Amino acid sequence: MDTLIKQYPGGDGVVTVLGGVSLIAEPGETLAIVGPSGSGKSTLLNLIGSLDQPTSGTVRLGDVEVTALRGRALAQFRAKRVGFVFQDHHLLPQLTAAENVALPTLAPGADRREARERVRERLGQVGLQPRQDAFPGQLSGGERQRVAIARALINSPGLLLCDEPTGNLDRDMGAQVVSLLLELAAAQGVTVLMVTHNLEHASRFGRVLQLQDGRLSPLPPLGEAA
Ligand SMILES: Nc1ncnc2c1ncn2[C@@H]1O[C@H](COP(=O)(O)OP(=O)(O)O)[C@@H](O)[C@H]1O
Ligand SMILES: [Mg+2]
Repeated sequence: MDTLIKQYPGGDGVVTVLGGVSLIAEPGETLAIVGPSGSGKSTLLNLIGSLDQPTSGTVRLGDVEVTALRGRALAQFRAKRVGFVFQDHHLLPQLTAAENVALPTLAPGADRREARERVRERLGQVGLQPRQDAFPGQLSGGERQRVAIARALINSPGLLLCDEPTGNLDRDMGAQVVSLLLELAAAQGVTVLMVTHNLEHASRFGRVLQLQDGRLSPLPPLGEAA
């Protein structure tokens, strides 16, 4: 992407949240972004995932200029090319794990049998096939996040955007979710971009960047900071 700028109207002028952010990720790369609360981490993920439009700059994914997409093409892109995982799992409580994972496949005219097969495969990849008929309320927090990851990957996107996916999990469950994300990146070649407050989790990623004062910079290796 090219020097993204994002401003919001505020006070008697504009508030610049991102003041020129550039980032290139390779396929299969794992990137963690850390930064203080309110530094624009979610804003940046939303711009990359086409949920929001920059004030200026462009986002590209492969040969697609994401920021130029509108209407139907934009909806298609969001549904197929990028997956999202949030701090809250956003699963529907009245649907089973398998039904939640299947949701993004329910386009009119879709091949139901093929979709069921994919749901089974994705649940297997996150280690939850035995729990496919459980409802979210019957799953642990870590299991719910794994279902959310399976759902985000159901249409085989090239990019997985995770906004504090371990924020509501205890240390062990958080570490397991991070392990799963890293495994998926290695095994499926999906690029994983994760925002986190947790430096321990972040340090396991291929690259760690810090967002501060509207700019993105490499985080010095832990231990050299002092
Ligand atoms: N829709 C909006 N309108 C105005 N300001 C916003 C909007 N969304 C986010 N902001 C502001 O942008 C800044 C960055 O927010 P955010 O990206 O959520 O930060 P982070 O995820 O790093 O905590 C905050 O100061 C927030 O108040
Ligand atoms: Mg945020």
